[in-house]
Amino acid sequence: MPAIEVKAYAKLNLSLDVLGKRPDGYHDMRMVMQTVGLTDHIRLETGTGKPLRMETNLGFLPADEHNLAAAAALRLCEATGADHGGLSIRLRKAIPVCAGMAGGSADAAAVLRGLNRLLDLGLSGRRLAEVGALVGSDVPYCVGGGTALAEGRGELLTPLPALPPCHVVLCKPAFSVSTPELFKALDGCRIRRRPDTAGLLAALERGNLPEVARRMYNVFEDVLPPRRAQEIDSIKNVMIQHGALGASMSGTGPTVFGLFDRLEEAEGARNALSELYRETFLTETVGDLMEQV
Ligand code: C5P
Repeated sequence: MPAIEVKAYAKLNLSLDVLGKRPDGYHDMRMVMQTVGLTDHIRLETGTGKPLRMETNLGFLPADEHNLAAAAALRLCEATGADHGGLSIRLRKAIPVCAGMAGGSADAAAVLRGLNRLLDLGLSGRRLAEVGALVGSDVPYCVGGGTALAEGRGELLTPLPALPPCHVVLCKPAFSVSTPELFKALDGCRIRRRPDTAGLLAALERGNLPEVARRMYNVFEDVLPPRRAQEIDSIKNVMIQHGALGASMSGTGPTVFGLFDRLEEAEGARNALSELYRETFLTETVGDLMEQV
């Protein structure tokens, strides 16, 4: 039976700003996104002749259309009239779940890229992103990846000059945060500090990694409960003490990441943090995903 293996890549927010609540209940965002090399692995098989079947290595994840990977396959076939002839999805997760790294959206995007190849649909990245927007706000970005500005709900994308390659340490503390609740908390307060998105874009334009790293900021850090905010700050401090050029929280958290230009320093931070936090990773930045499948 025809089959393909695809990788789903985690994303980070180099910056995240929330501009305001919209009449449709979503929020207008301004985010600088970056793909990194922490990946889930997905095997797609078509033509099984059976109803859609999904299997994951994490028992608590849904294995039906409530999982974004299956939802993406269904939306793609609805939108194009394509027939998968019986689809089987096998998902091996390594990207932490509910962590601010768009793991579920990355899986959905990888299914879109994979089925586009496997079923020979010939859809452009733009068209795949349109289908992805029906699945979730972060999916359109995850289709193409790389360094990009995401606005609107997250689906209005502008490619940016690539972040200069660097080492990335990721650390996810054990607590989890509810995305809708953090948005609600932001609605109820006056945002005291915002990222300097224009400055960050100018630094990217100049290819200046230290300047980018210095300008990283995420408004959600401001509305975390104080005990959580302290934990985020202490992880950032460990990264900075080990030589990170900058550190920030990704998405609605709680994952914290630091950018390093020297591998030994990144390894030092990874080693120190992995004694305290099981979910600590060292990886690298990744560019355009349409090339990679
Ligand atoms: O689009 P997605 O299903 O990923 O969004 C999950 C939740 O996050 C939404 O139901 C909404 O509460 C919040 N959200 C938002 N504004 C956005 C994206 C997400 O309020 N731009």
